[in-house]
Amino acid sequence: VRVPERRGEARRLAKSQAMVDVERLAKRRVPRSVWEFVTGAAEYEVSLAENRRELDSVRFTPRAFGQVHKPDTSTEILGRPAPLPLILAPTGFTRLSHHEGEGSVARAGRDAGVPYCLSTFATTSIGEVGKVAAGGRNWFQVYLMRDREITLGHLAQARDAGYEALMLTVDTPVAGHRRRDFHNGFDVPPNLTARALLDMAVNPRWVVDLITHDPLRFATLTDAGDRRWTNTGAVVESNIRPADIAWLRENWDGPVIVKGLMNVADARDSVDAGAAAVVVSNHGGRQLDRTRSPLAVLPAVAEAVGDRAEVYVDSGFRTGSDIAAAVGLGARAVMIGRPYLFGLMMAGERGVRKVIDIYRAELRRTMTLLGTPTIGDIGPAQVSLRATRD
Ligand code: FNR
Repeated sequence: VRVPERRGEARRLAKSQAMVDVERLAKRRVPRSVWEFVTGAAEYEVSLAENRRELDSVRFTPRAFGQVHKPDTSTEILGRPAPLPLILAPTGFTRLSHHEGEGSVARAGRDAGVPYCLSTFATTSIGEVGKVAAGGRNWFQVYLMRDREITLGHLAQARDAGYEALMLTVDTPVAGHRRRDFHNGFDVPPNLTARALLDMAVNPRWVVDLITHDPLRFATLTDAGDRRWTNTGAVVESNIRPADIAWLRENWDGPVIVKGLMNVADARDSVDAGAAAVVVSNHGGRQLDRTRSPLAVLPAVAEAVGDRAEVYVDSGFRTGSDIAAAVGLGARAVMIGRPYLFGLMMAGERGVRKVIDIYRAELRRTMTLLGTPTIGDIGPAQVSLRATRD
């Protein structure tokens, strides 16, 4: 069984030149309900569409005499050298995409020098990821628990497993309403509809993997000895304040990053409370519908934060030129969520490596064509947003 599987992987990897290819090949590998869980967004998916619309509206002004034969894509992330301005964003239930799950994503990130942020709703434990991706830049995404003792437990595990940083998500006081999940019965706990069960039945390989690898549990809560489904709404704190950032700082020796900001005031409050970095994000369009795109608010946030903290951005970044656009508009790095899940669906760990390779190659080519030898050279002179263009 494994041989044709690997051969299929090789064929799929060879066929994928860009994220559109990876996405197309990934779609066939998972049941429709899983595909919709990953690709779907909140309500009428206006935020989701706007994220791409804004990115597609970015225009470049290249320099012809840049003399860029070997562009240098390196930068600094959290004050340490990084080969790429790229971070793998936290995604819950990663093992639904592929049985290898979070460990494979973290390892692919480690080998490329790309930080990986493990979700509170991960399906692999904090300790396990720390072990299989030892030596990597592993971060832990915090959904603050109403019971702060549980959060302190997560922090202790992350510390023991050598994690570098915490990322506090602040845009999820309640879960966004993802209509496609609702209709698939793809909820927590799951209440699968006949249609969802049927499309799982036509994906026997995925079902066998799912059963053999026992993916449907929250590893973070399981570590606390609880293997049952938990109503996340009842355990996650819905009322987050800047004081909670300061509280995390008191209980964690490393940097604290704040994820899910869409305006200057929240960014300022976060940095005042001690955040080392902020992530401008609308959660890939999965929370509030009808938000502006993170890219549109990025320049103002970057200007307000200045040198006091790093600014990252995510939600919809699919190409190396998207990364160049973000850097030119003030981001230190771009985070990607769904793209690495597509890579994982397509070919497991090798698929995630492939996705990182694609972004790297595209960013290099973009920098060469832009005439910008280093990341620091990409700025407003080369990149303009729809709203700021003449
Ligand atoms: C997410 N995201 C997310 N964010 C977070 O802070 N905690 C989480 O548990 C999750 N879970 C999650 C699951 C899935 C399936 C997706 C697609 C996303 C949001 C994620 O970190 C990131 O903000 C977006 O995915 C970025 O947009 P793109 O790159 O997916 O377009």
